[in-house]
Amino acid sequence: MYFIGVDLGTSAVKLLLMEENGHIANVVSKEYPLSFPQPGWSEQKPEDWWAQSVAGLKELTASCDKSQIAGISFGGQMHGLVVLDEQDNVIRPAILWNDGRTGKEVEYLNNVIGKDKLSAYTANIAFAGFTAPKLLWMKANEPELFAKIKKIMLPKDYIAYKLSGVHCTDVSDASGMLLFDVKNKCWSKEMMEICSVSEDQLAGIYESYDVVGTILPDVAKELGFPETVKIIAGAGDNAAAAIGTATVGDGKCNISLGTSGTIFISSKNFCVDENNALHAFAHADGNYHLMGCMLSAASCNKWWMKDIVGTDDYAGEQTKIDKLGENNVFFLPYLMGERSPHNNPDARAMFIGMSMDTTRSDMTQAVLEGVAFGIRDSFEVARSLGIRIEKTKICGGGAKSPLWRKIMANVLGIPVETIESEEGPGYGGAVLAAVGCGVYASVEEAADKLVKVTGAEVPDPALVAKYEERYAKFKKLYPTVKGLFGDR
Ligand code: XUL
Repeated sequence: MYFIGVDLGTSAVKLLLMEENGHIANVVSKEYPLSFPQPGWSEQKPEDWWAQSVAGLKELTASCDKSQIAGISFGGQMHGLVVLDEQDNVIRPAILWNDGRTGKEVEYLNNVIGKDKLSAYTANIAFAGFTAPKLLWMKANEPELFAKIKKIMLPKDYIAYKLSGVHCTDVSDASGMLLFDVKNKCWSKEMMEICSVSEDQLAGIYESYDVVGTILPDVAKELGFPETVKIIAGAGDNAAAAIGTATVGDGKCNISLGTSGTIFISSKNFCVDENNALHAFAHADGNYHLMGCMLSAASCNKWWMKDIVGTDDYAGEQTKIDKLGENNVFFLPYLMGERSPHNNPDARAMFIGMSMDTTRSDMTQAVLEGVAFGIRDSFEVARSLGIRIEKTKICGGGAKSPLWRKIMANVLGIPVETIESEEGPGYGGAVLAAVGCGVYASVEEAADKLVKVTGAEVPDPALVAKYEERYAKFKKLYPTVKGLFGDR
């Protein structure tokens, strides 16, 4: 049997075909445009996601025995607002997770409604990229469009709907809407009222490994798939990546270096960071997790390499870096504002500390280090909650760089393990499909059997000490410059 994982990302949809034994038979990636209609805004067309998912599914399965395809599931970019009208047509482009237009609405939610109430209703506070503030923004700025909303969906759930005809979501992705009572895994009545939406406008809630339906006959025909293919709810991309790296059960950690950068800590029990700097979300294994999210991670390096330095040879640029722990240049990685832990959509990136002898590779190194320090900020919040993280897995595009993994291990002072497939969310999606189809009894069992660690970057005490000093300085930079950003 084959299982398909659809990772609906920000730059592309990545599709992965997995055999029952966990072997990856094929991987396909299809890009789509991302638009920034105003500074700090970030949008995509759900129609592009669907068109590229269909093209990708065809290419992915072109040479396999399609009669063996049993299930499809997902890992998807979180928090995006997709709105559908009475006929299930898309009303406006989706407002994405890294969109910063909702400063006013976030301020209203956190300061007028109050963080205590939001945390009691949802286990979280408002951040600019979350879905609820976007609904308030639509209501205030596009009232005619807001009045047309029949269904509110998240990005991957739109694809699940197009495949199955079912309006569904899963507990991990719903957690990032600020409309979901994470502890009790149901929609929050209070938040629905605050956002002027009703429960029938929201999708049905499933655990990530639940079957939501079967593929629609028309779609099965177009793809050449059997009409028996099951559609499984799937997860937000970070929870799916955690499955794909076996970050399940209690106290495990995964770092993802994708467009965003996240640190994800699994937990058997519901827990909340009392300052809400880390998100308290449901996990795709049926339990919970804490997560810190940076809005720009591998995207900082992509921006620096492609747009500024003007090269595609990322690895070549990194071979010139030989003074780890001794760089005088710092980079604040806030190209799209910052979520964890600063919660400031107006923050912006900066290079600090250059002198006449600063080289291009010092600046490249500063970019890689700045992202690692940003992850360390959330790691410190987890530590302050008494959570002991002894090692971590790593995935995402940035994890392909041995140098970046080394910097990460030494900035955090813990071993950083690599796994066989760094296709975190796509592999996690395929694993969820296999669990939904009954091949494995639980997500934990499947992840433990299928995910293989291939190596570890172990910290070097001398380098850890040097990075401790650098991090102590980095920590002082944001508080020093935040007044320049119109801090909220
Ligand atoms: C998580 C988050 C990002 C997106 C990226 O809270 O906003 O990691 O899910 O796809």
